[in-house]
Amino acid sequence: MKVSRALPAIALGLIASAVFTTHSLSAQSGGAYTADQAKAGAAIFAAQCSVCHGQKLEGISGPQLAGPDFMGKWSGETADDLRDLIASQMPLTNPGSLKPAEVLQVLSYILQQNKYPAGDSALTAAKAKTVKIVKQG
Ligand code: HEC
Repeated sequence: MKVSRALPAIALGLIASAVFTTHSLSAQSGGAYTADQAKAGAAIFAAQCSVCHGQKLEGISGPQLAGPDFMGKWSGETADDLRDLIASQMPLTNPGSLKPAEVLQVLSYILQQNKYPAGDSALTAAKAKTVKIVKQG
């Protein structure tokens, strides 16, 4: 009796975890940040990053930050690894000067320029850990 009563609960648990997994996968492939975050990030990028990385992230004295080569270089890492680098090392002339929220905004902009779609919920450091960098065309 005990076992048969436990089974439906286990089945429900499995269904719940399947739903959860599907949900987090869809968060991963799209909707990692909001359009507002990317917009704010574009302004920060233009003011503080484009001088070295280029208006179109094409790279000048600093490396390019968009395109298949950049994504290929970071492939297998997560957006949080990028966040960490930006927070601790950029802008090169004044590392650590961006507020955490600004780092997430500029990261959102970089994701947007690398074809990651915007969504309804904001990018956070915790969420960035679930966003895999995959090489895209
Ligand atoms: C004074 C020039 C300069 C400025 C300003 C600057 N960077 Fe950089 N950035 C560099 C250089 C040079 C590197 C390469 C460093 C290295 O390889 O050690 C780099 C590397 C990076 C990387 C890693 C790129 C890769 O291929 O791995 C990211 C991401 C990045 N910068 C983001 C930013 C962001 C975001 C800003 C603005 C907040 C910014 N940078 C401002 C010069 C700059």
